[in-house]
Amino acid sequence: MNTFIVDGLAGKPSLEGTVAVEGAKNAVLPIMAAALLVEGETVLSNVPDIADVHSMSSLLEGLGAYASYGKEGSCSIRTNDVRETILNEDIAKRLRASVLLVGATLARLGSVTFPHPGGCVLGSRPIDLFLDGFKTLGCEISEHNDMYTIRAPQEGIAGGSIFFRVPSVTATETFMIAGVRAQAPITLLNCAMEPEVVALADFLVECGARIEGAGTPTIIIHPSHVEPPKNPFAIIPDRIETGSFLILGALLGKRIEITNTNPSHLGAVIESLRVMGVEVKEEGTTLVVSRPEILQPVDIRTHEYPGFPTDLQAPMSILLTQASGESSVLETVFDGRLNYVDELVRMGAHIQVWNPHKATFHGPTPLKARDIDGPDIRAGLAFLLAATVAEGQSRIGNAGLIDRGYSRIEEKLTGLGVSIKRT
Ligand code: EPU
Repeated sequence: MNTFIVDGLAGKPSLEGTVAVEGAKNAVLPIMAAALLVEGETVLSNVPDIADVHSMSSLLEGLGAYASYGKEGSCSIRTNDVRETILNEDIAKRLRASVLLVGATLARLGSVTFPHPGGCVLGSRPIDLFLDGFKTLGCEISEHNDMYTIRAPQEGIAGGSIFFRVPSVTATETFMIAGVRAQAPITLLNCAMEPEVVALADFLVECGARIEGAGTPTIIIHPSHVEPPKNPFAIIPDRIETGSFLILGALLGKRIEITNTNPSHLGAVIESLRVMGVEVKEEGTTLVVSRPEILQPVDIRTHEYPGFPTDLQAPMSILLTQASGESSVLETVFDGRLNYVDELVRMGAHIQVWNPHKATFHGPTPLKARDIDGPDIRAGLAFLLAATVAEGQSRIGNAGLIDRGYSRIEEKLTGLGVSIKRT
């Protein structure tokens, strides 16, 4: 795997320039999976050129679909010849989002076989909500050699009502996709309300589906005839990439302009930055941010949307090491997402971890360069931020993990004035 070499700025706020945000990883993956439902050619635009999108393409191709990429983020998915019902085990074990194909394959072909989906190590990542939900919809589930097989009833997936014990993003999306081809309406309760869920509903509606309530806790999906959308469907901007650049701007920005984004998806992040004394200017689809003289401390509590996104918890922690006073992080979504903190302590941060969910930060602390490997996409990005603010040269390994979620990251950072190379 590649390594990034970063020459740190020793805390000097010297970054300036404009950076454009890509389409959202966590919006394009469910929409690519949903394309499997419709027979024909689906064209998407604003598709990010990231490793996870290519893994999803490979999974689709394993099922008999064909994905190709054009200029400027266009992607076409042809699904006329989809016959295969077994997900590629190696890829699915590495990509949690592979689980999104379970609903689509089952709805289209009546059965699906898949391994326990892998992905970032963020603590235990069970699939009980998926298995329980499909049982509620009349499906039969068996397990053999570490592979699950789900079979729909002869006449197709039944209708019904599913209450999610916790609001899961991909479970909400999976049953929205499956519900379009069910025999009767499906009601989902305690749903995730993330913008990516709404984007998936918009895509399915564009294909002819009838879906009520996306973006609220209750979603009703009516069985519908679906066809590929008539026009290319645009992927929404990535709010996590936007937030990552906002945090970089608050850390080290003279003036950073973040374009092609949707500020309304970042309420909790912008509000937390405001409490820290960071001014974020909104100008349509552009956000402008710079480093204030003093960063005030803040308490962060991750939460399902519209709360503070867990995917920005690690990047935000880097900012907290530079705030004057005591800040805290309470991670409420995952149970293994503070696993990067030890490395920050080795870089000089004063952080006390109370349990797998809670840490307090005492700042500001200058950070020293270090050679480290990122444990997951977002902590990997956080290490790039830490290396940029630190004094000296750091090597951040596992670059491939960062590439899963961020397109051309070194090019974008270089454009803002960061000294970063990939080896
Ligand atoms: N959960 C269960 N049982 C299940 C499914 C989930 O208990 O069957 C629990 C999880 O353990 C977790 C909580 O539900 O405690 C919420 O997890 P969720 O299912 O919402 O996560 P996900 O759908 O697997 C998506 C994103 C993640 C993001 C989370 C939370 C995609 C492809 N992935 O994951 O993104 O962190 O929602 O917002 O949409 C990333 O982009 O780096 C990333 C990890």
